[in-house]
Amino acid sequence: MLKLDIIAGARPNFMKIAPIIHAIDKANKAETKIRYRLVHTGQHYDTNMSGSFFGQLNIPPPHKNLNAGSGSQAEQTANIMTRYEKLLMEEMPHICMVVGDVTSTMACAITAKKMLVDVAHVEAGIRSGDMTMPEEINRIVTDSLTDYFFTTSTTANENLLKSGVDKQKIFFVGNTMIDTLLANRSRFMKPPVWDEKGLEKGQYIVITLHRPANVDEQNKLKNLISEIIHNSNNLPVIFPVHPRTEKVLKTAGVDHKNLYMVSPMSYLEFNYLVENAKAVITDSGGITEETTVMSVPCMTLRDNTERPETITEGTNELLGTNPEAIKPAMQKLFAGKWKKGSIPEKWDGKTSERIVEVLANVEVC
Ligand code: UD1
Repeated sequence: MLKLDIIAGARPNFMKIAPIIHAIDKANKAETKIRYRLVHTGQHYDTNMSGSFFGQLNIPPPHKNLNAGSGSQAEQTANIMTRYEKLLMEEMPHICMVVGDVTSTMACAITAKKMLVDVAHVEAGIRSGDMTMPEEINRIVTDSLTDYFFTTSTTANENLLKSGVDKQKIFFVGNTMIDTLLANRSRFMKPPVWDEKGLEKGQYIVITLHRPANVDEQNKLKNLISEIIHNSNNLPVIFPVHPRTEKVLKTAGVDHKNLYMVSPMSYLEFNYLVENAKAVITDSGGITEETTVMSVPCMTLRDNTERPETITEGTNELLGTNPEAIKPAMQKLFAGKWKKGSIPEKWDGKTSERIVEVLANVEVC
């Protein structure tokens, strides 16, 4: 029987691990093939950023919470590593499974590998080429230590092959985030802001911004928001504000009759809002995948992306971080000229089953 640690630490991790856990539970029904220990690093800890996802996505309570909490990148990494190392000393798994590209992903991969535990990386191989992003460093470090590469796209496969990874270690399985999206689409629920502001389908814009390059400098953030509002054809603009962004906005005095800033939303509420939006403007990576599958126009305020298929196949377009790019993109949207897109290969809701199939066949002594 395979002993597996599953690591989750920050908001975008929770929707990626949920379907894997459910697929393991399903595979274990007849006979226990995989025994897992769910480890929450505590990188995100609020109900808004963590707790609500466990409830809504039916994720069992973690076996262990490392309570690493806030801090600089180095502090968080160090806290997670020292605490996970202690846990490994109590009981060693055969494989440590990490997902995505957050600090917790890298910290646990390093710790596990140094303790001679194999690493499996879900969402391996994606690259933005932008070394100013902490996530890019996390991806590169994690993939340099990974034994089982579970990938979401053919581009990710190519990136790994180019960097010298053995083909046999790459498993092109698809996207677990989309497993969660498809499994929960019929359960999406109206967030309170829907009735409070009298929102209507296709008649509002959603924005999310949290990347340091967009939010850490107050003036830049104000300009981006103002440009969006002034090019939104008077539609309401709904902005669920990430804690990092909230800190900067507190003293910024951003206010407009069409702008509604709300707390970070639960998964089911946020995706209800996205599914029915006229468009989403974001600097997130995961949201570009969800809008692609739901065929919602998406504008990304970044200079690069590690998810090129959301542009070549999906509904996403890169605008860069200069506010001037917003106006022409919004004009195209309101002229009805936005692309419809198609769904990338293997984003079919069955990715977790494919991952579990691979894991169940791992030989352990
Ligand atoms: C992290 C991830 C990023 C991901 C994002 C989604 C890294 C390097 N970055 O960035 O890839 O897209 O999460 O949310 O791992 N905070 C709270 N409550 C919480 C969690 C955080 O108030 O529950 C505060 C922290 O104190 C910190 C700020 O939010 O000041 C940012 O949190 P942090 O975990 O450092 O990184 P994110 O910007 O959220």
